[in-house]
Amino acid sequence: MKRVDDFRLRLGKHELVPIMIGGMGVDISTADLALEAARLGGVGHISDAMINTVSDRRYETKHVKEKLALYKFNVLNEDKSPVKFDLGRVAEATKLHVEATMNRKQGSGMVFINCMEKLTMNAPRETLKVRMSSALDAGIDGITLAAGLHLGSFGLIEDHPRFRDAKLGIIVSSVRALQLFLKKSARTSRLPDYIVVEGPLAGGHLGFGMDWAQYDLATIVAEVMQYLKDEQLDIPVIPAGGIFTGTDAAQFLEAGAAAVQVATRFTVADECGLPSAAKQEYFKASEDDIEVNQISPTGYPMRMIKSSPGIGDGIRPNCEAYGYLLDANGKCAYISAYNREVAAHPGARKVKVLDKTCLCTHMRNFEIWTCGQLTWRLKDTTRRLVDGSYQVPSAAHIFQDYQFSTDQQIALPPELA
Ligand SMILES: Cc1cc2nc3c(=O)[nH]c(=O)nc-3n(C[C@H](O)[C@H](O)[C@H](O)COP(=O)(O)O)c2cc1C
Repeated sequence: MKRVDDFRLRLGKHELVPIMIGGMGVDISTADLALEAARLGGVGHISDAMINTVSDRRYETKHVKEKLALYKFNVLNEDKSPVKFDLGRVAEATKLHVEATMNRKQGSGMVFINCMEKLTMNAPRETLKVRMSSALDAGIDGITLAAGLHLGSFGLIEDHPRFRDAKLGIIVSSVRALQLFLKKSARTSRLPDYIVVEGPLAGGHLGFGMDWAQYDLATIVAEVMQYLKDEQLDIPVIPAGGIFTGTDAAQFLEAGAAAVQVATRFTVADECGLPSAAKQEYFKASEDDIEVNQISPTGYPMRMIKSSPGIGDGIRPNCEAYGYLLDANGKCAYISAYNREVAAHPGARKVKVLDKTCLCTHMRNFEIWTCGQLTWRLKDTTRRLVDGSYQVPSAAHIFQDYQFSTDQQIALPPELA
């Protein structure tokens, strides 16, 4: 049986270790995490989710405070349509994050940025165009189009000087989604450089309905590869979702995949952006503690740990400060759910909102613990310390475990001195 290191991912003239760490917003896949993947010869992702907020936290800008000051008059208003993003600020924040990351890049690998279409930001086309163009301006190696069909996304950047040289990929969960994307992007005469096929066991939002358990990654990957063969398209296919060991990964590579995209194993890495206490919750989680629910206002099912503090919380919508999920008409499903509860409980100091969550606020504060289905296995990937907590491994340790392990083995991190 071969191991991951027996294979290489070819993207144009680049040859890479076929391990891609998936994008995890909001700054869960940090620059430090992505840079480790690149240093070790693979591909890492940063994310542009809530980029103005991330910029404030990382680079001491004041975008959130100043946006809130500008729209403070609207805080008690149910209509959020006036709350717009300043495109110049979105560009500035994106450039800061991408440049700061790329300036530190070492090694032969690459750093991509994960751009989710569902972050509609009260002006979907305009904001997505600025997000992608600024990342390209700032020297990102590639863009992975995520959380959406992205039927018009190539068109938004086709005039950018780097449109044909940067690596551009798309995440799909079915052949149908891929077909639609290729059809609608054909006008730009540019194919994606890679296709991530994300199955139902992934973390974050799912490209499936609540019947996700009826789907299987290997089957979808085989369908996508067959379709590409029939169409005589030579595009690397990268499976994602539930690939937990080097052996799982090598099996996909032997079956013709070009690389694998993984994330859950890295949620507990030292370089991962989750707070230490949240990492311990990921380690501790049992299979029963993980659920797929519909509380994300995006309309996509999302997987998370049931004890996430953000579930059921009824805070006032924070769109004047954030507002990343406002659709083209300034609406978000959480606002309606919140207003319904407030109307049903007149005089209550605080309401509970069970069916939707204020995802911006809670992702920003790491209070929705989104995770992959196999999170419950993380406890078997490390050591238990004397105080009962779990040892946090380095990203390099996890990366190399994927790269070199065989026989379904998982190497434990070196014992702490
Ligand atoms: C904590 C977490 C956050 C994620 N956030 C995003 C995201 O913002 N955008 C995205 O496209 N995928 C996101 N994902 C999906 C991963 O990028 C990846 O494709 C998937 O989780 C791989 O499966 P695995 O976690 O079983 O290895 C997230 C996954 C996790 C675990």
